[in-house]
Amino acid sequence: MPILSARMGQLGTESAFEVLARANALQRAGRNIINLGIGQPDFPTPEHIVEAGRKALADGHHGYTPANGILPLREAVAADLHRRHGVEVSPERVLVVPGGKVTMFFAITMFGEEGAEIIYPNPGFPIYESVIRFSGATPVPLPSHESKGFSFSAEEVLALITPRTRLLILNSPANPTGGVVPRSELDQLVAGLARHPHVTILSDEIYGEMVYDGTHASLTTYPELADRLILLDGWSKTYAMTGWRLGYGVWPEALFPHAERLAINDHSCVNAAAQYAGIAALQGPREPVTRMVAAFAERRGYIIAALNGLPGIRCANPGGAFYAFPNIRDTGLDSRTLQSRLLDEAGIATVSGTSFGAFGEGYLRFSYAASLAALQEAIGRIGAWLERQNLGVRG
Ligand SMILES: Cc1ncc(COP(=O)(O)O)c(C=O)c1O
Repeated sequence: MPILSARMGQLGTESAFEVLARANALQRAGRNIINLGIGQPDFPTPEHIVEAGRKALADGHHGYTPANGILPLREAVAADLHRRHGVEVSPERVLVVPGGKVTMFFAITMFGEEGAEIIYPNPGFPIYESVIRFSGATPVPLPSHESKGFSFSAEEVLALITPRTRLLILNSPANPTGGVVPRSELDQLVAGLARHPHVTILSDEIYGEMVYDGTHASLTTYPELADRLILLDGWSKTYAMTGWRLGYGVWPEALFPHAERLAINDHSCVNAAAQYAGIAALQGPREPVTRMVAAFAERRGYIIAALNGLPGIRCANPGGAFYAFPNIRDTGLDSRTLQSRLLDEAGIATVSGTSFGAFGEGYLRFSYAASLAALQEAIGRIGAWLERQNLGVRG
């Protein structure tokens, strides 16, 4: 019998992938499944980006690149951050990595150990809690509130900080809730963080270009945080590039060498052709992104209203990403049961709120990265299924 390290038992997973596997298995067995479970754009990568990747391969970019990424790509990242947020970021602080997740893994393992505390959103992207536990640190959940459009309260965040807190993970716009934290709340939080200089912040802004009401407030716009803010971003969502595995972190100067050393130990560098494609994404036409986000906005308008019309379900109107996170308590079913039964009996794949942490009980995540026709069909089937069960009769 192999003897694994104890920490392997602490590692969680992302159950959206399990839902995807089950949905695919049902589909192979001949069932018609509408998949609203997976968190990736249903658009292809724009052609000019694909072409840049193809050209890079044809041009012979087949070898290792510098571990931190090719300079033109890091310069393009810095220029993009300037375009979006008006901030000056040195390309020397940009670490290009294979996907958004890697910055998360590096930041958490860099700070996490027995006795350390890490604050993370719950419900939130499941990998935060998984890697915190893996690192040995104590996960400290930060609730988000349906009544506040799934934002958090700055006061509540600050109250969770102790002398043991090493890292504070924030995610806006958020997965799974779509919640967007308003600038006023960030202002309060940043002011309060001045009292806690020992805390580093990891800001996951991977959905930063998918905001439907107002604009995205980036933590990079607070110069007072520059020496303790790690920005997580990447190409997966904005440019429909989940399979290319391309992301980046912007690290404080003092932390950068540690992150780079982790990269060298972990993956050496990112696939060279993907890096050239990444330049084309940042420097090419914005129109494909605008068109995709406009499509998400239209679908969001539809699905939020339609979910609110279903018996036993009410849905807040989240400000970003491409997720709806309806409250399903009045159906009388727990989240996991509703997820399983909707998949097995109505052919609709969603993800139980509990897949995103214990505070996700009572909710289901719907990804609206699917055609309007698919969303309409899904709502029709769920409505009919709820009627058949005689569930969701509001008391
Ligand atoms: C909040 C959040 N952060 C990071 C990621 C990871 O992105 P990537 O696929 O680029 O690793 C995801 C992916 O779903 C996400 O939802």
